[in-house]
Amino acid sequence: MAEPSLAPLMLGIAGFGTVASGLVRILTENREAIFARAGRDIRVKRILVRDPGRQRAVSVPEGAALTTRMEDLFEDADIDVVVELMGGVDIPLLLLERSLGAGKHVVTANKALLAETGNRLFALAAEKNLHLAYEAGVCGGIPIVQTLRDGLTANRIQTLVGILNGTSNYILSEMSTKGMAFDQALKQAQALGYAEADPTLDIEGIDAAHKLALLIRLAWGVDYPCSRLSVRGISGVSPLDIAHAREFGYRIKLLGHARLVGDCARDSGIEAGVRPTLVHESLLLARVGGAYNAVRVEGDAVGSVFLHGRGAGDMPTGSAVAADIVSIARGAGPNNTGFVRPALPGPARIIPPLETYSRFYIRLMVSDTPGVLRDIAAVMAENGISIAQVIQKDQAGGSYGGEAGDGRAAPGVPLIIMTHEAYAAGVYKALRTLTDSVVVHEPPVHYPVLVKRS
Ligand code: NAP
Ligand code: HSE
Repeated sequence: MAEPSLAPLMLGIAGFGTVASGLVRILTENREAIFARAGRDIRVKRILVRDPGRQRAVSVPEGAALTTRMEDLFEDADIDVVVELMGGVDIPLLLLERSLGAGKHVVTANKALLAETGNRLFALAAEKNLHLAYEAGVCGGIPIVQTLRDGLTANRIQTLVGILNGTSNYILSEMSTKGMAFDQALKQAQALGYAEADPTLDIEGIDAAHKLALLIRLAWGVDYPCSRLSVRGISGVSPLDIAHAREFGYRIKLLGHARLVGDCARDSGIEAGVRPTLVHESLLLARVGGAYNAVRVEGDAVGSVFLHGRGAGDMPTGSAVAADIVSIARGAGPNNTGFVRPALPGPARIIPPLETYSRFYIRLMVSDTPGVLRDIAAVMAENGISIAQVIQKDQAGGSYGGEAGDGRAAPGVPLIIMTHEAYAAGVYKALRTLTDSVVVHEPPVHYPVLVKRS
């Protein structure tokens, strides 16, 4: 067996923003601990930036230089690993293709890139027998990639459910515990370095969908295109629903979930999506606050495994990037997808979102008149929905009972319904019927509900 190299591992880093600053700090401050584990030094040679004159959060490491030329990373024979921490899709794709083509290992925190173009990059890395590592791409500092790829290899994974976006969780936590306005909480998340350059990716659930697609690949070895995932973000979550959820003993969390239906993800299917969900306060997921993330994985042999930690920010994410670099420094061969035969994912059989079932929270703004509850219950029953709990509030902030422009009384009083398990198709059909009803004043609000299993 070949002796592992003792020469320093040389890095070319693309980007010198939040995550790259965390990485550089960790490589500098924890140098001895990392040397003890990697068996060799890890040094930075080049850092690619757009604006070399910009003030940086940390100093350029000794022996390294800034550059604005991408070629300086993959054309430099001294550089062993290209670490992509710039964000976006097109330019990083070009950089990683050129780097793999030039025989460099690559490490990235870029989940959008891997969710959208991963098949191409994994195929190229496999052809060249190079590392394509992405621990930092899913849930910041939580070692979920390694857990699924290595720790749970002996399991058939049954379900995955998690809080996959730190920014959304931060916003919902601030709204829920401090009554902060959505926009202010988002501004704070941006200032703390949690949000994507385009925060729409965070608040519309797209970043969580990218991560979910990566988790599905790792868990089942299949490709579930992001464009086919059912995705709802948190931009429409109102303080009213956060408060009602609390009254029922729930917290609203943006959850990504995936479930194996039957025995095989390629043949029987995967049910998956991203959506704001009411999580019962007795569940650990309900207690995950701030920019923390958490993932619960269920395997047939291991049972339930729960991972919790910081999901965003410079140091947690830098920690995950550094872990991938140390693995490469140790000299082990690549294990990028976690699968060997076949090594590359095939298409998943996708269970349509309408065929999924769960409990639901539904809020209707209704006329406060006799018979309304009876009529709504009838629509629910016609669509096979059994009601578990119902509460009608007699005031909606004191402003109801007037006339809306369309002749309906406005804006009505909140009627909150918690259903038993119901098919999404039935719920959506009932809500469409109710939307057209004169006693319902606003489009209904609905969220799935995650309860503790008895
Ligand atoms: P960031 O703070 O915006 O930093 C991006 C860096 O990349 C900047 O230094 C920028 O250079 C450089 N850059 C961008 N486009 C470039 C180009 N075309 N040419 C040269 N340099 C370019 O971003 P970040 O928050 O560190 O995120 C980086 C990646 O990590 C993203 O893929 C993100 O999704 C992922 N990620 C972030 C976190 C987090 O908590 N922030 C967590 C996990 C994963 P200038 O400084 O000169 O403009
Ligand atoms: N914007 C992302 C988040 C960064 O808030 O979770 C971590 O991937």
